[in-house]
Amino acid sequence: MISTKTMKMLVAGAALGLTASAALAETNLRVFVSSQHRPDVWRKAFDMYQEARPDVKITIETGGNTSEQQAQYLNTVMTAKDSSLDVMILDVIRPAQYAAAGWTVPFNAVIGGDIGLYMKSYLPAYAEANTVDGKVVALPAFADAMFLYYRKDLLEKHGVEPPTTWDELAAAAKKITAAENDPNLQGLSFQGKAIEGAVCTFLLPYWSMGKNLVSEGKLTFDKEAAVKALKLWKDFVDAGVAKKNIAEVATDDTRKEFQAGNVVFAVNWSYAWGQFQGAESAVKDKVGVVKLPAVAGGEPVSCLGGWEWGVSAYSKNATEAANFVQFLSSPKISKFMAVNAALLPQFPEVYTDPEVTKAVPWFAEAKPVVETARARPVTPRYNEVSEIIRTTVNAVLAGTMTPEDGASQMEARLRRVLR
Ligand code: GLC
Repeated sequence: MISTKTMKMLVAGAALGLTASAALAETNLRVFVSSQHRPDVWRKAFDMYQEARPDVKITIETGGNTSEQQAQYLNTVMTAKDSSLDVMILDVIRPAQYAAAGWTVPFNAVIGGDIGLYMKSYLPAYAEANTVDGKVVALPAFADAMFLYYRKDLLEKHGVEPPTTWDELAAAAKKITAAENDPNLQGLSFQGKAIEGAVCTFLLPYWSMGKNLVSEGKLTFDKEAAVKALKLWKDFVDAGVAKKNIAEVATDDTRKEFQAGNVVFAVNWSYAWGQFQGAESAVKDKVGVVKLPAVAGGEPVSCLGGWEWGVSAYSKNATEAANFVQFLSSPKISKFMAVNAALLPQFPEVYTDPEVTKAVPWFAEAKPVVETARARPVTPRYNEVSEIIRTTVNAVLAGTMTPEDGASQMEARLRRVLR
């Protein structure tokens, strides 16, 4: 007897003009998704593809709670030329590097026609990050930027407006935590662990002072601004606004602490919102989101994030994988992920889609933040640049290095990498 599943496959296969045997032949695609970016919701998007294409079976693999842990894993897979992984999600800082290593297959042939025009449908920063020498090396999965999350209920209760400068934030945090007198309540949580996110921790105030780190491939390090940037974060710890062990805090730790109701202000990426509004959250409907504060006298700046789908050069199903990625990197799935996981859209028009603004009201205002967010330096030696910055931020916050020594060492080490 023919099972219902087989029947469904045959019917769908016939709809696609496939013969019975082709409809039954399965292509297995194995897809790597970062574990903090809602693999549960991606699974549903993958199921939509499987429903339309019953001849394709998609398996999810997740791992690593931070960008560099994921990169470490993928580097191992790619170095081993392992063909078991077909598609992988990559932090926006990596597609160019993966392409240079020969680890991904360009999409040009699958896209066909005018590549520039095709990429124009995305926000410009992502078209740029994924195009290397005319080759489309990955396709955008979702956009990202850093925001200031705050406890709407607590700010209202204590008559405090969302801060626009870091000084205002310190004052607001002190006022609220003093009045609440709750030993578990932190004023501010941000990322001080030596993770990729700590590169943005350093750059946020540094950029806010109007400084560039790299211009046209050359280091343009402003030591005074670097000292101030490092000191800004360390002062939060010394003033008791941030907790003593902030040097151990990674992105998802900030998310969890805020979600448990133990934080007034948090610096984080867009995915956190979906979790704050989830069933297991202690802060559901109590959360506000605004752009990040500026350094007094400076401009508010965010750090550009985002994730991209790449097809492995070792995949045995590269064309099928690329077709699947085109489906994922579409306005339809972008909207689905915005509504169900609060991942920021890579397409400008999705930000103001009524269903999206209903599910995530602040996304309409998030678009200018993403559009003006600054990218981390683009250089083939980014891994080293990242390592230098994040370990220094971490050491300063752990109290094993002064901001002055941190800035000096950062400059000397960066000079050796970016001459
Ligand atoms: C977010 C961003 C990504 C960034 C990472 C750092 O996931 O989207 O670009 O590198 O956080 O922790």
